[in-house]
Amino acid sequence: MGFDDVVTNGIVVTAAETLPLGIEIGIKDGKISCLGTSLPRFSHTQIIDAKGGMITPGGVDSHVHFAQDNSPTGDNFTTGSRSAIAGGTTTVLAFASQLKTEDSVLPCIKDYHTRAADRSYCDYGFHLILSNPTPNIMTSEMPLLIEQGITSVKLYMTYEPLKLGDSDLLNVLMSARELGFTTMVHAENSDIISLITDRLEANGHTAPYFHATSRPQIAENEATYRIISLAELTSTPILIVHMSSEIAMKHVRKAQTRMLPIHAETCPQYLFLLSERLKGSEKDQFSGAKCVCSPPLRHDPKDLEAMWRGIANGTFTTFSSDHAPSTYDHPGGKKLGLKDGIMRYKNIPNGVPGVETRIPLLFNHAGSSPSSRLTLQRFVQLTSSDPAKLYGLEGVKGNIAPGYDADLVIWYPDRDEGEELAALDGFEGKDCVGSG
Ligand code: URP
Ligand code: ZN
Ligand code: ZN
Ligand code: ZN
Repeated sequence: MGFDDVVTNGIVVTAAETLPLGIEIGIKDGKISCLGTSLPRFSHTQIIDAKGGMITPGGVDSHVHFAQDNSPTGDNFTTGSRSAIAGGTTTVLAFASQLKTEDSVLPCIKDYHTRAADRSYCDYGFHLILSNPTPNIMTSEMPLLIEQGITSVKLYMTYEPLKLGDSDLLNVLMSARELGFTTMVHAENSDIISLITDRLEANGHTAPYFHATSRPQIAENEATYRIISLAELTSTPILIVHMSSEIAMKHVRKAQTRMLPIHAETCPQYLFLLSERLKGSEKDQFSGAKCVCSPPLRHDPKDLEAMWRGIANGTFTTFSSDHAPSTYDHPGGKKLGLKDGIMRYKNIPNGVPGVETRIPLLFNHAGSSPSSRLTLQRFVQLTSSDPAKLYGLEGVKGNIAPGYDADLVIWYPDRDEGEELAALDGFEGKDCVGSG
């Protein structure tokens, strides 16, 4: 009987509205049970004083790479989820990655569950990376996975060990239409990248900066247009992940204005960083390796501005981190791209960190001042509510309303850096959000 916790003295901000100071949140068994004024206290009720801070739903980062085989020096579920909580993210969706040699995905899913179980500080779930979508997987195994709460797959149009050709892409889209899972796509043209990479290599252009040269906008542009065409042909919704360039984003916008269910995601690196970062420092040219990610950082500040426009105007459904770090100063991390003094961008593991910084970076630009880039409502939508809806967590994550998990972030925008938020993840054990 009564509330376990009452959060008081805060300003509740959701994707729909900002409530006046004085509305309290009553919590019972890790769930929000009601919002109201002067909620009754019981002897066991813990009072959490938000001290005038702004309370938003816990962040949902729908694109993180934890404990993946292809990133041996990257984050595991313990280190990665700790960073998530420190940055206001209370739910992460990571990837279970099928190997091309595997003709069943069930052992892979089991294996990734083991990598996460009892190790995570935040709630978590999985998408499945499909690199070999056999008929048996699509017809017999996918329905089982959906029942278990894995409601999304990621498909790659590039990277030799993972990429699918158009006929496999079409087969998965047809299956997505039938079964209703969400399809995420990494859209870059693989053959364009290989051709340029070989020519750069032949001319000795192998420093980290040439990573950006090797993956030009036209590779993202072509693949984006192609996957939208395949999605239109099969009448299937898709989400194009980590978009980085204006020309590719325009295809998404155009498709959306034609009422096609095309979603898109961008990430902090494409709002804030340009390719010159890949040049590194004068003292350590190889340090540009820290910024190697795919799609690459773009050359033109106009692309950053275009991504901000997409953030504000609704082109992007989600703002995720694509957190995929690897240790810099370690022979198995970014230093793979530096052997015997020779830099080879081809060997640098792709990906940058971001699970901790994603939300604070965007929060800095949210509000109602003339210099704000987006409203607080849009901020909550992009970082929490919309990813929750897209990936099967509607009614559970992404809102501050009765019935939702009590995953909350309290913001203190006027405090010093590092003290501006406190994340409260459900006041209970950390769950796998897909395990039913
Ligand atoms: O460079 C990146 N983004 N690496 C992570 C893997 C991916 O494609 O999302
Ligand atoms: Zn990707
Ligand atoms: Zn990724
Ligand atoms: Zn929780």
